[in-house]
Amino acid sequence: MTDNDGTSDADDATQTRSATLQPIRPPCERISCHKSSVCSRSYFVVVMVFFHVYIINVIALLFYVHFNSGQEDASRSRDAPSGGHPRHESGPPSSKAESLRHVSLARIEGIRVGHVQKVSLVPGKAHEMRTLSLKPLLFEIPDFLSEDECRVVMQLAQLKGLMESQLMVQDGQEELAKELNLSPEEIFNLLDISQDGQLQLHEILTHSRVRDGIWLTPETLREIYAGLKVDKDDDGLLSLEEFRLLSNDAFQRFLMQKGVKRSQLVRNSRHTWLYQGKGAHQVLQDIRERVIRLIRLPATLVDLSEPLQVVRYEEGGHYHAHHDSGPVYPETVCTHTRLAANTSTPFETSCRYITVLFYLNSVEGGGETAFPVADNRTYDEMALIQNDVDLLDTRRNCNKSNLRVKPTKGTAVFWYNYLSDGRGWVGEQDEYALHGGCVVTHGTKWVANKWINIDPDYQRQVQYQQLVSQQLEDEDEDDDLTLNQDEQGSDIHQDL
Ligand code: OGA
Ligand code: CA
Ligand code: FE2
Repeated sequence: MTDNDGTSDADDATQTRSATLQPIRPPCERISCHKSSVCSRSYFVVVMVFFHVYIINVIALLFYVHFNSGQEDASRSRDAPSGGHPRHESGPPSSKAESLRHVSLARIEGIRVGHVQKVSLVPGKAHEMRTLSLKPLLFEIPDFLSEDECRVVMQLAQLKGLMESQLMVQDGQEELAKELNLSPEEIFNLLDISQDGQLQLHEILTHSRVRDGIWLTPETLREIYAGLKVDKDDDGLLSLEEFRLLSNDAFQRFLMQKGVKRSQLVRNSRHTWLYQGKGAHQVLQDIRERVIRLIRLPATLVDLSEPLQVVRYEEGGHYHAHHDSGPVYPETVCTHTRLAANTSTPFETSCRYITVLFYLNSVEGGGETAFPVADNRTYDEMALIQNDVDLLDTRRNCNKSNLRVKPTKGTAVFWYNYLSDGRGWVGEQDEYALHGGCVVTHGTKWVANKWINIDPDYQRQVQYQQLVSQQLEDEDEDDDLTLNQDEQGSDIHQDL
């Protein structure tokens, strides 16, 4: 302590007394004495307050710990953070529905782009999982599948037979057009974003790039204008008068007359579906197991999702950028839970919380999976087409995508198509999850998709699972008549 500091505790005490007994001291001294007396008292008060607050905090903490561990199951709610694990796994659930109520979906943390974490997927082996982007939350796991597994999956798909992923003519468009109760003027006004009384090509394409299943480019649009003689001055701009000539019927008739090439479709591939449950080929069951370990979600959610989709692209094949899942609107119903929705709505969409994409071969040329806006600072729908460069067009503009994953045999990538709702459940669609398959320039490309379907509407997911487990119970009862106890395998819903 220095001399200056020396005028502390003991001196303060005397000065306090002097200050109260001798009020005639000079003002400056009086102030200084008064100050130190207050200091000493307030010091004591502050210390005591802190001490009490500290004690109260410790007591509150002890109570919290006590009550939380005491009523572990009862106090769990999906409002609490998940801690990265499905919380229904410990503690006996009171009923099947109740156990689901307490599920908080694990979400793997990306930390930062390039971050590598070790994951244990098969006994005695550690896989490395690298973060490729945070928006969307996207990971890559090399050697997820062995060479043999890739071969078996491709062979099983061939054995089953692959169908065209997209049929040439899509029905239902006219129906939608009829339902749309808007006049040509109103549509024109809505499309004319710049409000200059003209429809630029990109204004039409930003609204919708797909017409009757056909991918529209600025060139195709110009061709259609010319064919239907709507753009009289051939400047690529449509006035309201010109737009009126572009009726739905004329549009469709022109496209049909001209004939459509596969390369003009949204998607140019073949695919099939493989079930992975009991009785499936061991390789498919092993992959199921590994996926469950990878994404750390309850097995039930995986088992109630779509089967494994195996896709084959020939040379020249592609899949323009898209979302695997639809946006969350109040009137939207998920395809997988529509049984439980008991509403009739025209808005039905796939609700695929996670996409796990496996590369079954290494492609000789092209065929990358492109994420055009991954980790963009902002998402700007209008900026997806600029100067007639359409970032969603994977036949032309993959090289302008923010991120491209090269297909390497055995590698898996996975990403979240939805954000979290902040309470352990599925939230809004992640707009950054936009992706597509770039055109295959050499050879063929084989991939498989494992989608994990979860309804963003929590109650509906619960109802759906209850419905399915009820059905399975009924089936089990029927089976009881023919099977004895030992012969009954564990059904996939026992962990509901
Ligand atoms: C898909 C898909 C990407 C790819 O099948 O939904 O986006 O690289 N595939 O094939
Ligand atoms: Ca305009
Ligand atoms: Fe996709």
